Amino acid sequence: MENNKKIIFSGIQPSGDLTIGNYLGALKNWVKLQDQYDCYYCVVDLHAITVRQEPKDLRKRTLEVLAIYLAAGLDPEKNTIFIQSHVSTHSEAAWLLNCYTYTGELSRMTQFKDKSKRYGEATVSVGLLDYPVLMAADILLYNADLVPVGKDQTQHLEITRDIAQRFNNLYSPTFTIPEGYIPEAGAKIMDLQEPTKKMSKSSDNPNSYILIMDSPDVIRKKISRAVTDTLGIVKYTDEQPGIKNLITIVSSITAMNPEEIEKKYEGQGYAQFKSDVADIIINELEPIQKKVNEFLSDKTYLESVYKKGAEKAYYISNKVLRKMQKKIGFIPKQ
Ligand code: TRP
Repeated sequence: MENNKKIIFSGIQPSGDLTIGNYLGALKNWVKLQDQYDCYYCVVDLHAITVRQEPKDLRKRTLEVLAIYLAAGLDPEKNTIFIQSHVSTHSEAAWLLNCYTYTGELSRMTQFKDKSKRYGEATVSVGLLDYPVLMAADILLYNADLVPVGKDQTQHLEITRDIAQRFNNLYSPTFTIPEGYIPEAGAKIMDLQEPTKKMSKSSDNPNSYILIMDSPDVIRKKISRAVTDTLGIVKYTDEQPGIKNLITIVSSITAMNPEEIEKKYEGQGYAQFKSDVADIIINELEPIQKKVNEFLSDKTYLESVYKKGAEKAYYISNKVLRKMQKKIGFIPKQ
């Protein structure tokens, strides 16, 4: 082991444009972890193809997600940043782990059931069912201690732990049993139209989310259309989920706490508040958008980042893969 830092693994799918939910809920926290932990941040393109992707969109989005990682402040010198499909050990380990996973446990996953319903049973691929096993491979190949994920992924983390435990028990200790990592300031950003649901880049209604790359005009429009209530009080309460969500957004950008925000808008209606929320988001995103565009126009640099990341990721993960192969009973090639 290189050092005694705990190992972190996380990833985002390039299956849609990233939202401020991805930024405030994940990326902003990842940046805070980079000094303290040995972090692996992956663009999980193999996961993205579990539902159909247009090749040219997938290509574009994969680089865009990578550029967003960098623009948000992830330092490629401190973290291992890579594209999942560049590191063949992920697919190989997923196959092996498939043989230690039961179809029953996969078909019970909430996300699988939801997505199957959404995309229609006839087009549900084996890959979609198998999604959590690939995620387990991602995590276990690096012996990750901690996995920062949203609440919607805790079931996948649970099955990762089960698979790891099963393999360890069957043979001998091979994998670290990973834990979920819920950051202190973990902001869960909700849908702007249905504020009891998590904001998602795969929503059909663009007014439900704000994209990291949305222009100032679009951001203003979407915030002004965000669903609130008729109470007219800026209050951080579950009874006002729309307003609560806007407060969460402001709070995670400005580091003002909800009480301070409530106080600031006491006696004012929603119009002023919403207009300030839009300004705050725009100010936060503008420099990031600028950097994303700079990175995207420097393909040579992006290439150097993902090449170096893939090399390091392969080196580390291949050791674990070989260990798995050996324990299973495969003949070593050399
Ligand atoms: N399934 C995760 C999501 O949609 C993405 C992901 C893939 C992931 N592999 C991972 C997250 C490994 C953490 C660790 O959010």
